[in-house]
Amino acid sequence: MTTTDITTGTAARRPGAGAPRPRLECKLAADDADLAYHHAIRRSVFVLEQHVFARSDHDIRDDDAATMRIVGYADGEPAGTVRLYPLDPGEPTGDWQGDRLAVLLPFRSTLLGLPLVRAAVSAAAARGGSRMIAHVQPANRTFFRRLGWTQIGEPEVYLGLPHLLMEIDLVAARAAAAARTVTG
Ligand SMILES: CC(C)(COP(=O)(O)OP(=O)(O)OC[C@H]1O[C@@H](n2cnc3c(N)ncnc32)[C@H](O)[C@@H]1OP(=O)(O)O)[C@@H](O)C(=O)NCCC(=O)NCCS
Repeated sequence: MTTTDITTGTAARRPGAGAPRPRLECKLAADDADLAYHHAIRRSVFVLEQHVFARSDHDIRDDDAATMRIVGYADGEPAGTVRLYPLDPGEPTGDWQGDRLAVLLPFRSTLLGLPLVRAAVSAAAARGGSRMIAHVQPANRTFFRRLGWTQIGEPEVYLGLPHLLMEIDLVAARAAAAARTVTG
């Protein structure tokens, strides 16, 4: 296990080239410890690394009971996270938004981002959502396209920075999950 400082995202030891890929696991945040990991990772990436937010990336969605968080673990160590919620908190069968997708720097390109996004899509689909949207940083456009997301409209300014609005069909995601269950 690496000894990553979750508050800064720095690691005493980065996995070397050719090192075995870590065991990845994504779980819904279920207790206060998971929630603390979720917020610490967000702070490390969006406040300290990217300076998208000056002090805190906390917003009203964090206080909403309908909001869900997923924490990704690499070899058991909290390494990434994502948040999701129905845009209308009282209507889980409508549009959902995924945001605050973040993987700590020492764990980038370990393919943890992929299962985090897939887990968010699965969770929203399982709760009956019809569509998930995300405001995506342009650097991540290909990453999302490879996961089946489509850009909608023109580039936008979101949180004061260039973004692309992207979407994925949750009805299709639900059908694909059901087909996988049937075929085993
Ligand atoms: C965006 C982010 C979460 C991706 O996380 P990650 O763990 O580095 O991503 P992954 O390792 O799962 O995937 C990225 C790699 O897989 C490749 N990839 C993407 N989709 C793939 C797919 N379906 N199959 C195989 N490979 C794929 C990408 O080309 C990329 O390759 P490289 O980085 O090795 O060149 C991470 O870069 C991050 O936290 N960035 C800073 C915060 C941020 O930008 N958040 C998102 C805001 S929109």
